[in-house]
Amino acid sequence: MNQEQIKARILQLAAEHNVLLMAHNYQRDEIQEIAHITGDSLGLSIEAARTDKDIIVFCGVHFMAESAALLSPQKTVLLPRQDAGCPMADMVTPAGLREMKQQYPNATVVTYVNSSAAVKAESDICCTSSNAVNVVRSLDTDEVLLVPDRNLGRYIAAQVDKTCHVWEGYCPTHERLQITEIEKARAEHPDAIFMAHPECAPEILELADHICSTSGMYDYATKSPATTFIVGTEMGILYRLRTQNPDKTFILPSEGLICPNMKLTSLDDLLKCLETLSPVVTVDPQIAEKARLTLDRMLAVPRD
Ligand code: 13P
Ligand code: SF4
Repeated sequence: MNQEQIKARILQLAAEHNVLLMAHNYQRDEIQEIAHITGDSLGLSIEAARTDKDIIVFCGVHFMAESAALLSPQKTVLLPRQDAGCPMADMVTPAGLREMKQQYPNATVVTYVNSSAAVKAESDICCTSSNAVNVVRSLDTDEVLLVPDRNLGRYIAAQVDKTCHVWEGYCPTHERLQITEIEKARAEHPDAIFMAHPECAPEILELADHICSTSGMYDYATKSPATTFIVGTEMGILYRLRTQNPDKTFILPSEGLICPNMKLTSLDDLLKCLETLSPVVTVDPQIAEKARLTLDRMLAVPRD
């Protein structure tokens, strides 16, 4: 089968099995092209909770599929590549978090969705890159632990009037972005707006004109009168930025902005997943109950 035939077969199987095909904004172009829904972590979580489809196929990384499984316990959630993980999520373990909680017993634990269900189960509330500041401001507490991303953590800490303790995890992809690469892109495109994801290092965020989640970048670039944008996040975002804004220019400032885990899922993997209806993502019921609560609390925070 050629690529177009594989895509057609995937869509046919998805219709036959009443499947919702979800893809994160960093997935390969051809996966985003055929997905029913593309989005950031928050948007996809909301859709996972809302869908009336029997099966969710999550083209993304493991913690995202796990979140979908937590939010839709009566549905089957499939992750085409079981080995698609997130190094940042792996930088915190339940035991490590328990130790930090002992150090700061009065702090509320705010955990980025880029974390395992077991870590979520040790937390009080979740956040994503698009609602993190809102979530922390909504808390009736003066002290918080921000886990596991140090960059998102420091970005939040600078904007809230609370004592923040930050876990030292990070995203290897976003931390590869260098100041010199932004300076070079700016010198070549002096009128460009620099949009950055809060997972970038603080010295990069200081240079940004706009800091937001991946879906926030679509909204911002589409509404902005500017025509050229330097994009400080994973390169998969370029697909929809460019197709939705054909008259605008999007520049990736660094060749390092590729998440190998997000790029694992191919059309062949997706086809096999729909043919075999596997691998299924499951969460231990005891962990799931507590972890779900942290996501539900997050989803209950009003969006601004
Ligand atoms: P978003 O929530 O902005 O989609 O980010 C998820 C992620 O993994 C960024 O690296
Ligand atoms: Fe994890 Fe970074 Fe990849 Fe996002 S881009 S999935 S944070 S490694």
